[in-house]
Amino acid sequence: MRSSNGPFNWTAVFLFLSCLYTLFTPALTVKKQDFKTCDQSGFCKRNRAYSDTAISQSSSWTSPYTLDAQSIAFKGGQLTGIVLKNLPQSGENLRLPLTINFLESGLARVSIDEEKRQKGEIELRHGSKARKERYNEAEKWAIVGGQQLSKGAAVSKDSEEGTTKVLYGPASGYEAIIRHRPFVIDFKRDGETHIQFNERGLLNVEHWRPKIEKEPPKEGEENKAEEEQKIVDPAEDESTWWEETFGGNTDSKPKGPESVALDVSFPGYEHVYGVPEHTGPLSLLQTRGGEGNHDDPYRLYNSDVFEYEMDSPMTLYGAIPFMQAHRAGSTVGVLWLNAAETWIDIVKSKLSANPLSLGIKGTTTTQTHWFSEAGILDVFVFLGPTPQAISKSYGELTGYTQLPQQFAIAYHQCRWNYVTDEDVKDVDRKFDKHSIPYDVIWLDIEYTEEKKYFTWDGMTFPDPLGMQKQLDEHERKLVAIIDPHIKNTANYWVKDELVSKDLAIKNKDGNIWDGWCWPGSSYWVDCFNPAAIEWWKSLFTYDRFKGSARNLFIWNDMNEPSVFNGPETTSPKDNMHHGNWEHRDLHNINGLTFVNATYAATLQRSKSEAPQRPFILTRSFYAGSQRMGAMWTGDNQALWSHLKASLPMVLNNGVSGFPFAGADVGGFFGNPEKDLLVRWYQAGAFYPFFRAHAHIDTRRREPYLAGSPYREIITKALRLRYALLPSWYTAFREAHTEGWPIVRPNWWVHPSDPAGFALDKQMYLGSTGLLVAPVLEEGATSVDVYLADETPYYDYWDFELVKGRGMHTLDAPLEKLPLLMRAGHVFPRRDRPRRSSGLMRYDPFTLVVVLGTDAQGAEGTLYLDDGESFDYEQGAFIHRKFTYDAATQILRSEDIGEKGKKSDAYAMSMQGVRVERVIVVGAPAEWKGKEEVDVAEEGAKASAGTRKVDCVFHEASGKKAAWAVVRDPRVEIGKGWKIDFSSGARDKKEL
Ligand code: GLC
Repeated sequence: MRSSNGPFNWTAVFLFLSCLYTLFTPALTVKKQDFKTCDQSGFCKRNRAYSDTAISQSSSWTSPYTLDAQSIAFKGGQLTGIVLKNLPQSGENLRLPLTINFLESGLARVSIDEEKRQKGEIELRHGSKARKERYNEAEKWAIVGGQQLSKGAAVSKDSEEGTTKVLYGPASGYEAIIRHRPFVIDFKRDGETHIQFNERGLLNVEHWRPKIEKEPPKEGEENKAEEEQKIVDPAEDESTWWEETFGGNTDSKPKGPESVALDVSFPGYEHVYGVPEHTGPLSLLQTRGGEGNHDDPYRLYNSDVFEYEMDSPMTLYGAIPFMQAHRAGSTVGVLWLNAAETWIDIVKSKLSANPLSLGIKGTTTTQTHWFSEAGILDVFVFLGPTPQAISKSYGELTGYTQLPQQFAIAYHQCRWNYVTDEDVKDVDRKFDKHSIPYDVIWLDIEYTEEKKYFTWDGMTFPDPLGMQKQLDEHERKLVAIIDPHIKNTANYWVKDELVSKDLAIKNKDGNIWDGWCWPGSSYWVDCFNPAAIEWWKSLFTYDRFKGSARNLFIWNDMNEPSVFNGPETTSPKDNMHHGNWEHRDLHNINGLTFVNATYAATLQRSKSEAPQRPFILTRSFYAGSQRMGAMWTGDNQALWSHLKASLPMVLNNGVSGFPFAGADVGGFFGNPEKDLLVRWYQAGAFYPFFRAHAHIDTRRREPYLAGSPYREIITKALRLRYALLPSWYTAFREAHTEGWPIVRPNWWVHPSDPAGFALDKQMYLGSTGLLVAPVLEEGATSVDVYLADETPYYDYWDFELVKGRGMHTLDAPLEKLPLLMRAGHVFPRRDRPRRSSGLMRYDPFTLVVVLGTDAQGAEGTLYLDDGESFDYEQGAFIHRKFTYDAATQILRSEDIGEKGKKSDAYAMSMQGVRVERVIVVGAPAEWKGKEEVDVAEEGAKASAGTRKVDCVFHEASGKKAAWAVVRDPRVEIGKGWKIDFSSGARDKKEL
């Protein structure tokens, strides 16, 4: 439901109607008819039909694609050749250039192009100025590294007749077995096939062809023509080759049909994950019907699907065409590098033959079928073997998660809209009055003068700088929305410059394209154009974006792009971008390019003072967007079902390389009941991106308004987030350097336990061992949590032991967030309540050491930097490893950071920041009577030697584990030290 206080009367009417609608409709539903099903998308229907033909002909089906053996060449890790597509009717063989790059990182990249289009030897219709090539620039936006060709990859001498075998990867343990006729590739690791291309023969490259105008049927012969049409092979159904109409919009398709498709099979793999953004279970469902399955393929076509539905393969705002297949002991994956509309079918089948006789270590095979409307076929193959290795190599390829500013991972307070600058200041004060921490307050579209970005509404925001100054007093920030649509109105300098510099997206006729969004008639900046990025940068300088201060950051919304009067609420596909690419070619990357421009702009602006890390929230995203900021799951609803859906969505984004993710806490549409709001805050405290947001028609719901006891419970959830910020920041650092998810699903942490592979209602925070299982059901006062092994866990709040592989029911009255600590870990906290995270900069730390009964000890890490600048790139950080050794009973802190130019200066600035408490949960029973520990710190004067420090031991009672607390060991967080728990009870004489 949309509404906006725009200058037009229609908006008011619309607002009124939408309010009525909200009043009388208990649950909003997606307008399904606004979005295509596969059947309504020409190339999707054709490719499914192609697969149906193949299945119906089963053993007699042969793929018409062969690899011309004569054409194969191999040099320096790269195989090239020509795939021939045989056209049965003419006997013609179309030439499709093939490149397979074997990369140093162990990845393989298979690309197929079309020679005729490569050479530009095609004709376009309707006088189109579009490029004649297939789009091949997705890599320009998505890929940033890992492209070095492998020196060790080589064609094997024992390649069988009709195949080419390439050995590559670590210790040449990977093989690509390329069969020539038909063209099929098997990817093997250690002799076992893990991924197969075209094994089902569904490779399909819709080649260019001229349109042959058919004579209109003679009078009286219309029926005959219709009959003839029906017997045409549905995979060759011409009806959508040249034009496609949907929802009153006609796509002129000047290049004709040009889809690319391929089947990718994962033999022996039962679970596949990834390809966000969708609602539904983390372990993806089958898509060709049947009970519990989807009927349509998973779709990737970034769209503003407001009021989206649950458990659906429908497209949403973002697209990451990256899928991982997992079974006990192995994870593999593919990245389908294509930016056009894409659909993915998934079917699973039980293996009939003894799988081991086939060399496959699993009983189910997952077969996937990918098809994209345009562009080259370009697929990266990941052979794992672990989820950690895959996340790492995906990060190397597409870039790691940005290391955000510290404030960005704290709590954000948003609504559409805080209506005046006084309103913002009032909310700010009320948080303080109620001692509720928050870091960021947000402004939605109403702060502008008539939806003109880079302006302020002078009536409601007369003093934006004063407002930002008040926020800054407690190190708080402001985020303001800036969308990509530029109001098409007279005397708006931004629009005037956009037009005079010729930087807008064009329509198919080469004129500036005009569409409808929040401001009414609008133009869209084309951020594919380097000149547009330069111009965008110029808009953010302090003298141009007047009224904005250093503590203002940016929210990029509606960047799919959302176009209210466009086909499927987005841009027409035949619109034109920089370089004469059609919008169809690059649609899914559009949102990324806008954030990329804003990132460059805000970075440059901060350089005029001291460079600070940009913070940008985006709604639309693609592979690579993780380099620039955070995403959220768009316009959800204040319903339990939407709270529940948020966990698999956030988890899936994490394993798909974009872990800085969250959902609108409280639900965007509608008014949540108090218990839903409370439960949402408890879950939200474990979203990597933690923001409450609400639609303009909803009632105010800032946490302090919740009333007792809800306010106190929400405050507790917020304080938990703040206390754990050092652990969160450490997890972000792991995402930034290793590509690992920030919150992790069970399968990722316990990859050998099949019972946990489909779990998506519980998650681990980084490597801390903290396992959260938020309450997601209305009225529930307990949750079931699954433990993958026999390692002891303890309740975070009261240290009760929970142990044993399998399901456990945990008590969860409203005031309790079910949270467990896994033995074997050490994690850092900062326990002093503050107004904002910035004010915690020099606060002391608490270390929680969680011990098991198995004498294995525990370890954990802390990463810390100034949380703001880029100095960490020059060593300005503290990176410690804490190890508790069970045999010696010593807890140590050691440095694991690499030193750089700015290490010493940062260390100096943190001097005196200490550990104020060490809590040992699951402390050994023999510590009974212990009253002190020995503490020694590096660099301490020899005379200081070892110090005795108080330690209080609490015996186990009932289910509650024993625990001990070392009170103020006075060791510095940035230094090496050890705490020796082996010394006995206090010497009586000392007392
Ligand atoms: C979109 C966004 C929503 C925002 C609204 C107004 O619906 O998803 O978060 O509040 O636009 O800008």
